Amino acid sequence: MCGIVGFTGAQEAAPLLLEGLKRLEYRGYDSAGIAVMGKDGIQVEKVSGKVEKLCERTKDGALVPGKTGIGHTRWATHGAPTEPNAHPHLSNDGRWAVVHNGIIENYATLREELTAKGYVFLSETDTEVIVHLLEYYDNGDLKTTVMKAVARLEGSYALGVLCADQPDRLFAVREASPLILGVGVGENYFASDVTALVSYTKNAVYLDDGDFAELSPRGITVYDCSGQRIEKPVSRITWNVEAAEKGGYEHFMLKEIMEQPAAVRAAIAPRVKDGEIRLEEFDPSEEELRGISKLVITACGSAYYAGCAAKYALESLCRIPTEAVLASELRYSDPLIDEHTLLIVISQSGETADTIAALKECRSRGAKVLAIVNVVGSTIAKLADWTLYTWAGPEIAVATTKGYTTQLTVLFLLAVFMGRRLGRVDEEQYPGLLYDILRLPRLIQNAIDLNHGIPALAKKYHSAASLFFIGRNTDWASALEGALKMKEISYIHAESYAAGELKHGTIALIEEGTPVIAVCCNEALEDKTISNIVEVKARGARVLAVAFRGDRKIVSQANDIIYIPRIHTLFTPVLAVLPMQLLAYYVAKENGCDIDKPKNLAKSVTVE
Ligand code: G6P
Repeated sequence: MCGIVGFTGAQEAAPLLLEGLKRLEYRGYDSAGIAVMGKDGIQVEKVSGKVEKLCERTKDGALVPGKTGIGHTRWATHGAPTEPNAHPHLSNDGRWAVVHNGIIENYATLREELTAKGYVFLSETDTEVIVHLLEYYDNGDLKTTVMKAVARLEGSYALGVLCADQPDRLFAVREASPLILGVGVGENYFASDVTALVSYTKNAVYLDDGDFAELSPRGITVYDCSGQRIEKPVSRITWNVEAAEKGGYEHFMLKEIMEQPAAVRAAIAPRVKDGEIRLEEFDPSEEELRGISKLVITACGSAYYAGCAAKYALESLCRIPTEAVLASELRYSDPLIDEHTLLIVISQSGETADTIAALKECRSRGAKVLAIVNVVGSTIAKLADWTLYTWAGPEIAVATTKGYTTQLTVLFLLAVFMGRRLGRVDEEQYPGLLYDILRLPRLIQNAIDLNHGIPALAKKYHSAASLFFIGRNTDWASALEGALKMKEISYIHAESYAAGELKHGTIALIEEGTPVIAVCCNEALEDKTISNIVEVKARGARVLAVAFRGDRKIVSQANDIIYIPRIHTLFTPVLAVLPMQLLAYYVAKENGCDIDKPKNLAKSVTVE
């Protein structure tokens, strides 16, 4: 999705802006541009395509001199990914430049109004109305001009604004789209994502919806929507530059797969003290906890599949009815949610538009909200009553890996914690469950080490036209994520099915050589899944099983087997997904795909 950077200081702006845009590339985009305040006014350079092309065109920024500027990577919504549609957009008089993330919902009306006033539109974007509004309302005072223009906008927007009249000044505006200010010495920045700031400063100011800020090399002033100056705390960014770089791996995805033992350890460590799970950030009163009659988990993509997998642990250990619902469905479903519902919202980025909307919808019906989020200070973290951070560190590859396994880890900690507080996990069960959670980092490492044969398996499976992933119960949840990983990065059609449902559809598609990945880590149901394996094999399928090390039953049934270490059934999804992440990675590599930035996908989906 779109990315924003802004800089004002004593250094040349363009190289810094280009560097910031490169750090935002992982979010997914299709065009890029910068605007820099030069001696003769604002100079804009844009390309359709990659930031690299922008670097070439501008000789790494040398052809765009100046010390204040804004930059953007665009993921097309209104209008194709062409050069005219790329940001920054310039006003007709050339005095205003704007970059924008989000969607201006009333742009059609504004466009008509501005066209009637004589403004000429050069792009098909919703964003362009903003520069013309700025020119129209320009009264010589930057702050009130920005306020007047912004007051006309409906929708979501993070804006970076540059005006030729005040060459070292920038404006940043936030409404329902993330924007963070970076505080430097003699220079200041803004960016839509903390990864673009980490190489320059560790001091950040998180804007709230409705806030806008004025930046110059000398300082930052933040105002609320009525124009009143407000004080904002400066927070420390804990991520470092190395964490946002590849560190010797060929792809961010592989690096992030390998980081999972450490990431899961970081998710657990602050929450287990003296042999007890302590979730200090989640502190409902006894009455609130006992009053919960239903758990609703909502999220999108892999975060939703983490919810599907954790549902079993939450229901089984807390004995509270639990459902996982896609956020894009929940928001429009007139859900039966009240003050006795605990809504668990899962999101790596904390900025997914549908997830935010579902949260707001359920909150308006009285639900209390617990967020499980990776990005500190993100919108979902701010909106929730309680937030449990996953502490996975920056995740750059579009397809999530450590984001997903840390979400599961936190959800399992939550299930055991709540189950214990409610008295539904007894004293005998508790130490065993806790022991298995504490072992997860080591077992994840084992699972990764056990699977050095996966590149060879990828050579067998990479030319398949379709892959089917099957499993039952917790294994089905793992299969859902396994299939998603495969299709996201390898572009092979991959479908997940509850193994018991095979006979009601998918089996019609099984032919000689069709690969079926069967997740068989739920021992109580293994015989049932094996009977499904037998059925597909009888129709020619080639079966790759994911099973516990030492499982003898599976040996004679599957064509290939990938093993994971044994663990409590409820927690198997954290381990079962690992070989499937690796398989997807190596299949995609075999097929020469752009693994970290798959086509058409975005890391952070900030539009509906
Ligand atoms: C995109 C990403 C997925 C992610 C989903 C939800 O589709 O590519 O990896 O699972 O969004 O994102 P969130 O940030 O809310 O977890």
